[in-house]
Amino acid sequence: MPVPLSPDEAKAFLDSDAAPAVYLDLLDAVSFRTAGAALRLGVFEALADGPLPVDQLATRTGTDPLGLRILLDALTGYGYLTRTDGRYANSANTTRWLLRAAPGSFAPVLSVWTALLTHWWQDLESSVRTGGPTGDFYAWLEQHPDTLADFQTMLRGQADWLAEEIVELLPVPDDARSLVDVGGGHAGYPVALLTAHPHLRATVVDLAGALAQGARTVADAGLTDRVELRAGDLFTADLGTGHDLVLLFNIVHGYQREQTLTLLRRAAAALRPGGRIALLEPLADVPERPAGTGEAFVRMFSLNLFHTQGGRAYGYDELAELLGEAGFTDVRQQLLTRSDTDHLVTAVLAG
Ligand SMILES: C[S@@+](CC[C@H](N)C(=O)[O-])C[C@H]1O[C@@H](n2cnc3c(N)ncnc32)[C@H](O)[C@@H]1O
Repeated sequence: MPVPLSPDEAKAFLDSDAAPAVYLDLLDAVSFRTAGAALRLGVFEALADGPLPVDQLATRTGTDPLGLRILLDALTGYGYLTRTDGRYANSANTTRWLLRAAPGSFAPVLSVWTALLTHWWQDLESSVRTGGPTGDFYAWLEQHPDTLADFQTMLRGQADWLAEEIVELLPVPDDARSLVDVGGGHAGYPVALLTAHPHLRATVVDLAGALAQGARTVADAGLTDRVELRAGDLFTADLGTGHDLVLLFNIVHGYQREQTLTLLRRAAAALRPGGRIALLEPLADVPERPAGTGEAFVRMFSLNLFHTQGGRAYGYDELAELLGEAGFTDVRQQLLTRSDTDHLVTAVLAG
């Protein structure tokens, strides 16, 4: 958790050169890493039913009592835990956000970013030096089922939060029959669209492991007869033809211009003339809504995309130009009201 500072301390670090601001980053980075360790060791879940002394917690989590106590004291200092009479408990914020069963739990996000920062960002300099990613992020994810499940759960949570507005904003004509969700994984968005439009069918194309969660979403919604889950590669899989709608949600930011253009052309080939493409993206032009974490998120997300996939956050103008090159017209963008950063970009296939 962020280091709490009195106004005087904050002034020294942030508004002057009296103290090195990077020291605060050091403490916050270590705090984040410590929380990730506690999550991986099962500390928060072990405390879900109430406070425990260190020995019992060590038995429950299969950890070394001394090492665990030192970790617990750090977590207490950072605000993740409290300690009373030698018993440790989850803080109110931990109970609300870091237990797996909490509504909209942040545990999958902590898990995914812990994996990114510990596994991928250790050689951040390399991609910046060479100009390319240091590995194949999605192939790696497919090999790490626990992180993959957390990754898809994290995105499914975002879909649960954003889908209602997206369904409202996306025009779907009464005679529309089918959509294809390219890289649709957890299938949260097509399920929301099919629920709102009973005449629609969907094809979801993604890697096999990613579709495991999609299969559950579709089954839970009772839509197995209207959704086809198609395992394959975005660049080679059969996307079908004559669709009314193509979704490319959180996909093109994984790629640079040429590959993005290829994907947009593949989307165009899958649509009927007059069909619509919809992209969901945190765009590089961060809107000036009340100052918040949006700007910081987009900058670090773009760096992560470049490092892990060779991609980046696109600006709207560049995306609109690429859509035009791929044969689309009537390009529009809409910043979603439930997000500081996510834009719905739509365009119509000329024809
Ligand atoms: C950032 S996620 C977006 C998921 C979903 N569209 C959303 O917005 O929540 C990117 C998705 O693309 C899929 N993906 C990445 N590379 C792929 C590839 N080469 N072929 C098929 N799917 C791929 C991933 O498995 C993942 O589900």
